Amino acid sequence: MIYIKSDDEIQVMRECGTLLALMYDYLEPYVQPGISGLELDKLAENFLLKNNAVPEQKGYKGFPSTLCVSINEQVIHGIPSKRKLKEGDIVGLDCTISLKGLMTDSARTFAVGTIGKKEKLLLERTEKALYLGIDTVHSGMRVNEIGRVIEEYIKSFEYGIVRDFCGHGVGYDIHEEPTVLNYYSSRYRQRLKENMVITIEPMINLGRDDVRVLSDDWTVETIDKQPSCHFEHTIAVTEKGCEILTVK
Ligand code: MF3
Ligand code: CO
Ligand code: CO
Repeated sequence: MIYIKSDDEIQVMRECGTLLALMYDYLEPYVQPGISGLELDKLAENFLLKNNAVPEQKGYKGFPSTLCVSINEQVIHGIPSKRKLKEGDIVGLDCTISLKGLMTDSARTFAVGTIGKKEKLLLERTEKALYLGIDTVHSGMRVNEIGRVIEEYIKSFEYGIVRDFCGHGVGYDIHEEPTVLNYYSSRYRQRLKENMVITIEPMINLGRDDVRVLSDDWTVETIDKQPSCHFEHTIAVTEKGCEILTVK
C-alpha cells in the first residue's frame, strides 16, 4: 500500500525537508581536505539536535551514525570513520531525519577541493539525472516512468546505473512503498497520486554498474573501484507536477 499524506502531514515534511537542506548548507564549508567522516557526522548530529530533529539513520537496522559518508568508489551507506578526506576525493553524504514523527531523506555528493574532470562531469550529470526524474513526476503517471527518464539520459554516457538500490516512499518509515528504480522496469507500475511522497536517488558509477557490500555489512562499493555519485531529494506529488521537500 502506498500511503497518501494529508496536507498537514506534507506541511510537517516540508519543514523537515527544509531543515535537511539547511543541514547540508551548514556542512558544505566543512567538506575540505583534512576533515574526517566522523567529524562531519558530529557536526550534522549537533545541528539536527539543536533544531529538534531526530537523526533517523542512527540505530536504523544497527547503522551506527547520523550520516552515511561514502567516499570515491563507495556508492552509499558508508560508515563515518576517522579516515580524512583528501584533495580530489568525492564524498556522498546521505541523511534521513524526522520532525514530529515524519521523515525526509536527501543526499548530495561534494567535491573535496579540486577534483578531476571526469569526476566533475559525473557529479553534474548525476544531479541532472535526479532533476530530469523530478521534472517528469505528476499525479496519474506510473512510477516506472521516472526510471525510464533517468536511464534514457544516463545511457548517453559510458556510466553504470546502480541497479541493486533505489528510491522509495518515505514518511512514517525510512523506506515505504513504492520502489523507485533508476532504470526502466515493467515490474513497478503503480500510478502516483497527489500527496504521495517519494525519494528519487540516482546512484551513478563512472565505470561498470556492479556493486558489492563490504564485510562491515553496510558500505556499498563499486566492483571496479571506480568512483560513484549519489544525489537524492524527497518530493511530494502534486496534480500537475511535484514539490521538492528537501530544499530551502
Ligand atoms: N538514506 C538512505 C536512503 O536513501 C537510507 C540509509 S540506510 C541507513 O535510502 F541505515 F544508513 F540509515
Ligand atoms: Co537517503
Ligand atoms: Co532514500
